Amino acid sequence: MGKKILFGSNLKMYKGVEETISYLQELQDLTKEMSRAEMELFIIPSYVTLERAVKAVDTKLIKIGAQNMCWEDAGQFTGEISPVMLKELGVSLVMIGHSERRHVFGETDVQENQKVLAALQHGFTTLLCIGETAEEKGYGISKEILRIQLKKGLHQVSRKHLDHLWIAYEPVWSIGVAGVPATVDYVREIHQAIKESLEELFGADGANIPVLYGGSVNADNANEMIVEPLVDGLFVGRSAWQADKFSVLLRAAKKAKERG
Ligand code: 13P
Repeated sequence: MGKKILFGSNLKMYKGVEETISYLQELQDLTKEMSRAEMELFIIPSYVTLERAVKAVDTKLIKIGAQNMCWEDAGQFTGEISPVMLKELGVSLVMIGHSERRHVFGETDVQENQKVLAALQHGFTTLLCIGETAEEKGYGISKEILRIQLKKGLHQVSRKHLDHLWIAYEPVWSIGVAGVPATVDYVREIHQAIKESLEELFGADGANIPVLYGGSVNADNANEMIVEPLVDGLFVGRSAWQADKFSVLLRAAKKAKERG
């Protein structure tokens, strides 16, 4: 059997508590017979839903993640949520450096690095998001930008933590309502470059770090993306927010990946 395929969704600032809980329960019902030895499914809802969310599902079937996290355990950080608080709730995954955090809220690679180190130290599955802007792509420097985001974002990460590290490649220009889906050729070329940077950082172990693709993934392009050998999973926004549609998408993608 090959590596587990990863499927997940970031709910951004969309679903409130009740809507998140019914979404999670529906998604769990629709996918519960699918073997988790072959795939992992994770959902990243809003902070305020987390306490209920981890109790509403079997977290072996659906891993629950937080959308952000402060690097400090406690202190004078008004408006922030600490790793200790997330642990207390039973959250097992933390997303760091989503494009909206970087570009709307001005987070830097140095801050993402502090968060990654703290998340790994606390034993979270740590999903670091990277991606170039349209402008950077226009200058032909996408690979350089991604290499910098990885080298800074993963600075001083210990190899002993690599089994808890996932990367999501989400080109900024492809995310959200104004997003343009990336072509498969582009995703192939970029995932190759990302794997090379990870090998540069961590040797052969680096190549085993899962790299997910995200950005306007939908039912029409999911299969061609996931069959790429260096695409280890799909990180989906809008096309995952109805449980029945997400279940159809991920089942088809899983079958396509297995066919190769
Ligand atoms: P969309 O799939 O809606 O483009 O969003 C992707 C995303 O930001 C996942 O984190």
